[in-house]
Amino acid sequence: MSDKLWGGRFEASPDQFVDEFGASISFDQLLAHEDIQGSLAHVKMLKHTKILSASEADQIIAGLETLAHKLAAGELEFSVANEDIHMNLEALLAQEIGPVAGKLHTARSRNDQVATDLHLYLKNRLPQVLDAIAELQKALLHQAKKHQTTLMPGFTHLQHAQPITYAHYLMAYWQMFKRDWERFDFNQKHTDICPLGAAALAGTTFPIDRKFSADQLGFSEIYANSLDAVSDRDFALEFLSNSSILMVHLSRFCEELILWCSYEFGYLELSDKFATGSSIMPQKKNPDMAELIRGKSGRIFGDLIGLLTVLKGLPLAYNKDMQEDKEGVFDAVKTIIPCLKICTQMVETLSVNKARMEQVLTTDFSNATELADYLAKNGVPFRQAHAIAGKLVLHGIKQHQTLQDTDLATFQKFSPKIQADVYSALDPKTAIKRRNSYGGTGFAQVEQQIELAEQFMQKF
Ligand code: ARG
Repeated sequence: MSDKLWGGRFEASPDQFVDEFGASISFDQLLAHEDIQGSLAHVKMLKHTKILSASEADQIIAGLETLAHKLAAGELEFSVANEDIHMNLEALLAQEIGPVAGKLHTARSRNDQVATDLHLYLKNRLPQVLDAIAELQKALLHQAKKHQTTLMPGFTHLQHAQPITYAHYLMAYWQMFKRDWERFDFNQKHTDICPLGAAALAGTTFPIDRKFSADQLGFSEIYANSLDAVSDRDFALEFLSNSSILMVHLSRFCEELILWCSYEFGYLELSDKFATGSSIMPQKKNPDMAELIRGKSGRIFGDLIGLLTVLKGLPLAYNKDMQEDKEGVFDAVKTIIPCLKICTQMVETLSVNKARMEQVLTTDFSNATELADYLAKNGVPFRQAHAIAGKLVLHGIKQHQTLQDTDLATFQKFSPKIQADVYSALDPKTAIKRRNSYGGTGFAQVEQQIELAEQFMQKF
């Protein structure tokens, strides 16, 4: 017989390299705490339902508590021969309390055990992710409040489009992170379901009390179908998909930080704390942290595609392929939280070159829409107004002259509808003030956005 925990029907054991290939202990030891908690809940339920006697259960509980202390003290040693965290801990429990340890696995399978561990792991980490997003939102909001009258060009196609405020720009990201927060918040609902008691796939003949063990672990719900309970990894997919969308947002924001901090833009400057120098070029101040966050989006997308691919062809219920579900989730947790923290601190410590942001608005044509709107308001059909403004832009480009520097006589050669009041319409401040449609960049609108955002943040 094989010396494995499951060795009864085997005459030979796998070679060592096969053991090594099949083992997950190198990474699933990260679930040790959750595994012990899951086992404690399970054995308390076995005691409560009298499936185990009180004395047997109490010995197991004491043994598990010893393991928990040893784990916290860094005193547990795991081995590849015991394959995964579940069997390692069971073997260690047997060392602590002897053969009664073998009763822990009554009415349980590693299939519901591993699913429970992963649920617990994410359930414990989602609040940290939510808090880290909220911190970033706070930082953006704080800066937005300070920069309600800081003007800058808004872009489309990375070409100057129309003037906006820096506050409006920052609040756009605030809104994106609000949706991220809501997605991770909803993620808690599907994570907060307990698979324990589904056993291998079909439930168990023992009179277990699934609600009891779920309550012990703080789960609000239990899976209604045992096959689904052990096969479902949607909660992990949701986590990775939410993480991927979050990283898209962080990456876009970092891309803009990198651009805005370049010499060509010069709108922002990173704190020295988040930049690095060059080993050869003494003048360099490189936005490495922003670049790294942009780069790390790639691994998170990889984590998502990896798990989607692992799951897509799997027949119900458990298959060993599912052992591949963990590393991507662990990787995402350990990546997104620091990315959020660094981004928050970069935002808090950015210097804003208000003069430069506003100066570019005095030399560009981002007020051309104002001219078209001005004509349209004076009765010229918008398409025709657009064409007249376009011709004036072309004239300006050729004469090296902005619209606001064009004299009235020239304006009137293009359209007699243009009067002296055009100059105030062309002023970027007026342009912004007038964009008072709901959600627009108008000062009053941004102020209202900020107020709503502050209300949302009150729960933190
Ligand atoms: N190490 C396994 C995993 O991570 C645990 C579950 C094993 N179950 C089984 N029936 N082989 O998925």
